[in-house]
Amino acid sequence: MGHAVEFGRRPKSKDGFRQITAVVGSGRHGGGESTLVDDLLARGYKNVTVLDVSQTAIDVSKKRLGNASERVKWLVADITKAQLAPRAYDVWHDRAVFHFLTTMDERTAYVRQVAHAVKPRGHVIVSTFGPEGPTKCSGLDVVRYDADSLHKEFGVHFHLLDHSEELHRTPFGTVQQFLYCLCRVD
Ligand SMILES: C[S@@+](CC[C@H](N)C(=O)[O-])C[C@H]1O[C@@H](n2cnc3c(N)ncnc32)[C@H](O)[C@@H]1O
Repeated sequence: MGHAVEFGRRPKSKDGFRQITAVVGSGRHGGGESTLVDDLLARGYKNVTVLDVSQTAIDVSKKRLGNASERVKWLVADITKAQLAPRAYDVWHDRAVFHFLTTMDERTAYVRQVAHAVKPRGHVIVSTFGPEGPTKCSGLDVVRYDADSLHKEFGVHFHLLDHSEELHRTPFGTVQQFLYCLCRVD
């Protein structure tokens, strides 16, 4: 699976994103294994944390990375309940996890988690199925969003900087509409 969002600057840039990144959902379902962490390491990012509720998903990613997996902090946890350090991350990236949160309580806990763990002025990239996307993923119900409805879930302390849509072609030949939102924590 490709990733439509490019992190603005390279880590060497002193005033750009610092080298601490949280990647939520290492990925195993739906025939895709996210290789975002591989790309981040290849570009020299350090202090990368990958969190997934599935030990299997984490193990698949670790195995794929081999020795390079030692440069990643791996967390097996439900993102709505994980114990994350406060103000620890410069960048939060989630593709196809938030849309699984179908209750208000889960979404509130997730947004609290982001507000707790991302530094002020840090950046948050969240990707979900778009308005024309599938209603289920891996057999589970999902919530579909447009930029306004996704931004509303996060609230006024998240400043929406940009959004885009992507048509993702699955290995099964179907096309899924994804939405990406980029916010800054104010
Ligand atoms: C559809 S996959 C997306 C994976 C990857 N981000 C990608 O874009 O290819 C969703 C992943 O989110 C994980 N996940 C689902 N609910 C979660 C939760 N509450 N906390 C942490 N991870 C969760 C699943 O185990 C799975 O690996």
